[in-house]
Amino acid sequence: MKKICIIGTSGKLGQYMVQHALDHGYEVVGVCREKSVSKLAAFKDRITIIPGATNNRDVIQQAVAGCDGVLTVLVPWGNQQYSTGTAQAVLDYAQPGARLIFSCGWHITRDGKDVFPPALQRDEKIARWITRIVPFIDLDDQVEACRRIFASDTRWTVVRGSDLEEGASQGLPVWSQHVGDAILASNMTRRVDYALFMVEALTNDALVQQAPAIVGCQTPSALAVKV
Ligand SMILES: NC(=O)c1ccc[n+]([C@@H]2O[C@H](COP(=O)([O-])OP(=O)(O)OC[C@H]3O[C@@H](n4cnc5c(N)ncnc54)[C@H](OP(=O)(O)O)[C@@H]3O)[C@@H](O)[C@H]2O)c1
Repeated sequence: MKKICIIGTSGKLGQYMVQHALDHGYEVVGVCREKSVSKLAAFKDRITIIPGATNNRDVIQQAVAGCDGVLTVLVPWGNQQYSTGTAQAVLDYAQPGARLIFSCGWHITRDGKDVFPPALQRDEKIARWITRIVPFIDLDDQVEACRRIFASDTRWTVVRGSDLEEGASQGLPVWSQHVGDAILASNMTRRVDYALFMVEALTNDALVQQAPAIVGCQTPSALAVKV
């Protein structure tokens, strides 16, 4: 793995991924909205930035050229199928055999066997109710994006994040196949460690065509199940 692309580079998760990727010695190409390029000032001499919407197919085609891995932040902003357009462009233009790692939340299910905590179900209901009135996000867009990824024969991984918090790294998160598994009960991961999991997944073939649900390795549920 030499050169990678990070799509959605300027967000909180994206910037942590840039730092981890540079620490791993990767050459980094980043895509972010033009108005957000200034958020990457700290990295400007160390990465190549391609400004543009992440669902712009021409931008993605240019950005992923020659990349062995692509890290994509999937966000369901607006009502223009932003996540789906982003994911489809990556699936279509990444070079054959590239490792494709996508981020999303626990609410995504691959096989319908996840058992969601009541708080998550409540939050999803509230979000759906609010966004019917003010459609600033479209939860079904991220669902559709992931459906297309799961159906693809590329070397994908969909990393499903718990609730996130800031703070110093605690180490690589632990993961499980299904939300509801005891190890995930604490439902909290440091954002910096979510980013680490995404970057480490690039070289972890055990995660190819998997949808790991992650949780911080120092959370009570992770420690309880490890013992
Ligand atoms: N927040 C959570 O608690 C949580 C929990 C589980 C999983 N996740 C997943 O983690 C990932 C990133 O989450 P995060 O909380 O760390 O967010 P984040 O890093 O702040 O990322 C937000 C991304 O959305 C982009 N964005 C913001 N407003 C936009 C708009 N109006 N149109 C288009 N793009 C826009 C940002 O780009 P700009 O820099 O250009 O604004 C940035 O790339 C997502 O895949 C999310 O599903 C989050």
